[in-house]
Formats: sequence, C-alpha cells, structure tokens
Amino acid sequence: MFSLTGQAAFVTGAGRGLGEAIARGLSEAGARIVLADIDGDAAHAVATAMQSEGRECIAMPLDVRDEAAFARCFDAAVQRFGAIDVMVNNAALTPSTSLWDIGADEWDDVMAINLRGSFFGCRIAGRHMRERKSGRIVNLSSMAGQQASTATGVHYAASKAALLALTRSFAQELAPSGVTVNAIAPAAIRSPVLDAMDESRQRALQATIPLRRFGEGREVAAAVVYLASEAGAFTTGATLDLNGGRFMR
Ligand SMILES: NC(=O)c1ccc[n+]([C@@H]2O[C@H](COP(=O)([O-])OP(=O)(O)OC[C@H]3O[C@@H](n4cnc5c(N)ncnc54)[C@H](O)[C@@H]3O)[C@@H](O)[C@H]2O)c1
Repeated sequence: MFSLTGQAAFVTGAGRGLGEAIARGLSEAGARIVLADIDGDAAHAVATAMQSEGRECIAMPLDVRDEAAFARCFDAAVQRFGAIDVMVNNAALTPSTSLWDIGADEWDDVMAINLRGSFFGCRIAGRHMRERKSGRIVNLSSMAGQQASTATGVHYAASKAALLALTRSFAQELAPSGVTVNAIAPAAIRSPVLDAMDESRQRALQATIPLRRFGEGREVAAAVVYLASEAGAFTTGATLDLNGGRFMR
C-alpha cells in the first residue's frame, strides 16, 4: 500500500534539509524524482548522489516566486516523466527575526516563497492532476502555524498558518477530481536550520518535546510517502502533526 513504483514526484526546495530527505524517501518508495531548488547546484549535487545509488531523478533550478518559470519547470518535468503524480511544496525561508525588527522586504519575501510559491505549486500541479483525475499534493506547513512560537518569526508563522487554509481550499476544489491535498506540520526536525542554532538553545528546545528528541528528516519523508501512496487515499484536507508531542489536539 505504500509503494510508489511507476510514479513521478516533484519536490521543491529539494537541495537540502527536509526537501532532500523527502525526495530520498519518495525515491526509496519507488518514485522517479524531480528535485527543484533555487540553489540549482545543491539540487544537482543531491541528484548526482542519488543517481550514483541507482535512483532515477533529475535536478532543476527553480525560484518558486516566479509563476511562469514554475509552470515551465513543471511542464518540462511532465515531458520527462510523462506525468507528475505527487507534488511536494516544501521550499521555504525560515527567518527568526523579532517581530519588532521585520522590514517590509523581509515580510514580502517570506510570504512570496512560503505562501505564494506554494499557491503556485498547488495550482500548477492541481491543473495537471485535475485533468488526469488523480494526484497527490503535500504542503509543508509547520507547528509554528498552529501555535505561538518564539523560535521562528511571525511572518513565517503567518505564512504557515495561511498555508493550512490554502491546503483545505485546494483539497475541497480538487476532491471531485480524485486529487488529495494535505499538509504536514512538523516541528524541531533535524535540519540545517536547527543545526545552526546554538547548543544551549537546542537543549532548551529539546526539553520542551515530550518525546525528548528531535525528529528526523526520514520521519517527515515517511509521512509524505503515506500521503502520496494508496495507503493515504482517503485522507484529504488534513494536517498531519509531526512534533514529538509538543502540540496535541
Ligand atoms: N526543519 C524543521 O524542523 C521544520 C519544522 C517545521 C516546518 N518545516 C518546513 O519544512 C520545509 C523544509 O524545511 P528545512 O528545515 O529543510 O529548510 P531549509 O532552509 O533547510 O531548506 C529550504 C530549501 O528551500 C530552498 N529555497 C529557498 N527559497 C526558494 C525559492 N524561492 N525557490 C525554490 N527553492 C527555494 C532552499 O535553497 C533550501 O534548499 C519548510 O517548508 C519548512 O518551513 C521544517
């Protein structure tokens, strides 16, 4: 029920961190992968490493803020693999600037990447999947969009909360076409952003997690595989919490 053999998946922000882990997890489940990232070199390096392990994947430079470029990139991926079955909107900026110091440019940039970029990704993939009457879209939200947090900026939190609303709207719109749209809301997963925090802050953060450890990228990947596979076929418009018990509802 968890096999993605014969399918193709498009992952944004796949050049490092959770995007890379998700791309690898989907690939292990059998999917062919498009790794798209504004850092084209990083995406290329991940693709080269995966290819050397026998994985079928391609890398593409992509800035998710640019709708026309996004559509061209997605079309090229469809040409290459015949169709895209799974779309993962993962690319984001995660600044932790105090709300007193966030300037207009930084606010706009976070919204343009985290929210507008995911909107473009849902719409571009949604049109393709609506036509094919099948497909899965997974949006990377965050616990910061569900509960107040000082670890990340208010612009980040607002973009991730709005992404949950966007997920439900696309889920409603695409359900009659057999396309599911879900969100994952992780918190404190091992990644370059978390590793960049100083050690005392990391220890303080860990102490607030009931499971007393950070999550792993492959655990986020497993949740994406579930939502993308036959096992997740009846789940849509949902938010899947991956936070070690920090936010229970
Ligand atoms: N790591 C965590 O604990 C955590 C917790 C909650 C939510 N998330 C979410 O998971 C996702 C991945 O997080 P991460 O920690 O791996 O982040 P990260 O910063 O390590 O990686 C983000 C990737 O997105 C790419 N990117 C940035 N701007 C882009 C653009 N305009 N177009 C295309 N690509 C762009 C970057 O180059 C990078 O490769 C994000 O949506 C984040 O909000 C992560």
